[in-house]
Amino acid sequence: MTLASIILAAGAGTRMRSKLPKVLHPLAGKPLIWFALNAVLGLVDQPPLIVVGHGADVVKAVVGDVATFAFQAEQLGTGHAVMMAQPFLEAKADRLLVTFADMPLLREDSLKQLIDLHAASHSPVTMTSFIGEEARGFGRVIRDEKGHVVAIVEQADATPEQLAICEYNVSAYCFDAQWLWSALAKIPVSPKGEYYLTDVVGLAVAEGFPVEALVLDDPDEAIGLNNRLHLAEAEKVMRKRINEAWMLAGVTVLDPERTYIEVGVQIGVDTVILPNTYLRGETVIGEDCQIGPDTTIIDSKVGNHAHLLSSVLEQAEVHDHVTLGPYCHLRKGAILDEGVHLGNFGEVKQAYLGPGTKVGHFSYIGDAKIGKNVNIGAGTVTCNFDGANKNLTEIGDEVFIGSDTMLVAPVKIGARSITGAGSVVTHDVPEDTLVMGVPAKVVRKLEKSDP
Ligand code: UD1
Ligand code: CA
Repeated sequence: MTLASIILAAGAGTRMRSKLPKVLHPLAGKPLIWFALNAVLGLVDQPPLIVVGHGADVVKAVVGDVATFAFQAEQLGTGHAVMMAQPFLEAKADRLLVTFADMPLLREDSLKQLIDLHAASHSPVTMTSFIGEEARGFGRVIRDEKGHVVAIVEQADATPEQLAICEYNVSAYCFDAQWLWSALAKIPVSPKGEYYLTDVVGLAVAEGFPVEALVLDDPDEAIGLNNRLHLAEAEKVMRKRINEAWMLAGVTVLDPERTYIEVGVQIGVDTVILPNTYLRGETVIGEDCQIGPDTTIIDSKVGNHAHLLSSVLEQAEVHDHVTLGPYCHLRKGAILDEGVHLGNFGEVKQAYLGPGTKVGHFSYIGDAKIGKNVNIGAGTVTCNFDGANKNLTEIGDEVFIGSDTMLVAPVKIGARSITGAGSVVTHDVPEDTLVMGVPAKVVRKLEKSDP
């Protein structure tokens, strides 16, 4: 039995009121459709087929080659959308798993149960439902006195008695492919001029098949996204899932409701995440760290035993035992080697700070290569931009930069040299030399006995 997957993603998503196609809106850092894809990838023998329509080109570009695509030019309903898949899959699949791209919380495990239930049943259709309190515009599952599924009725077409039913259609189905292809042609057109996929349930029942529904235990899985209120709801559920998974994996999350960890992030054991922290993109954090509160880390690497407080890191790298903050900004290409300390209001961009180097207070380090155990005084600035080009500042090991030094790049400070407070360094300084003044002049060669 070959199983193929169809994901419907052609709808306009009008209720999102957005320029972006609905299925590309981000949830926990990934586009909605990523979740629908991920839930099926491990279950099928061939790349999922996505039915695209609105914003087809952008959706295809984002998804890439993990899936194949069918095009639905006019959105004539979910049944019609599945018909668009027929030419691609007719010869390739005995069974079909059909899901919607706007249902990101549906778990792979539930779909697996659906497939198993279908395999054990004697019906060409198996559906998924949940019992809930809020209707959210979902189709109602109609059952007979014996409790057998009879049909799905859309909210817009339901009678008052049917509207009172609180078993809802999730929109995840498993079908016998041959049966479905012929059933699709029999779907009647709705009063709205659409072909509803839901109608095939009634068709199967009319042919005498006992349709079964997998009733989901967790109704959160059925949160579909039609508007931005639903997006916030889904984000909350996803946040809870992600944070719980990290806690069970050995990470302390002090306040899971106020901790935002995206799907692609990795965190080592015994790390503590404090509130209002955003861990985003492909960020990797080591063990025994303390992160936050009020910290945002995007696409960055953090070693072990690092303490990062109230700071922002973007495409940066900090090694073991680094302490940072409060109020630091590490920008692209900032690399802080082992044991570096960056105190209040430090900004670092495209710069390497060697092991043990300390920048205690409000400094800007941009386009720099700094050696080990360097002490950089308060208010130091690498003047890296001359109006046309970015220039490099190089500082050797064990240099002492006095408070408020301006390092006018390109400039090199040799190992173990000292700049006096308030120096404006416009020329290279050799090793073991004391400079001071504006612009800084050599005072004398340093002796071993100098501090
Ligand atoms: C659908 C179901 C409803 C179910 C609900 C659960 C139908 C008729 N109704 O309603 O029973 O309770 O989902 O989420 O199936 N799409 C296309 N082409 C189209 C129309 C839709 O590809 O012509 C895609 C959309 O992009 C979306 C999905 O199908 O991913 C569902 O469409 P939507 O309009 O949101 O259906 P619902 O009104 O939510
Ligand atoms: Ca929907």
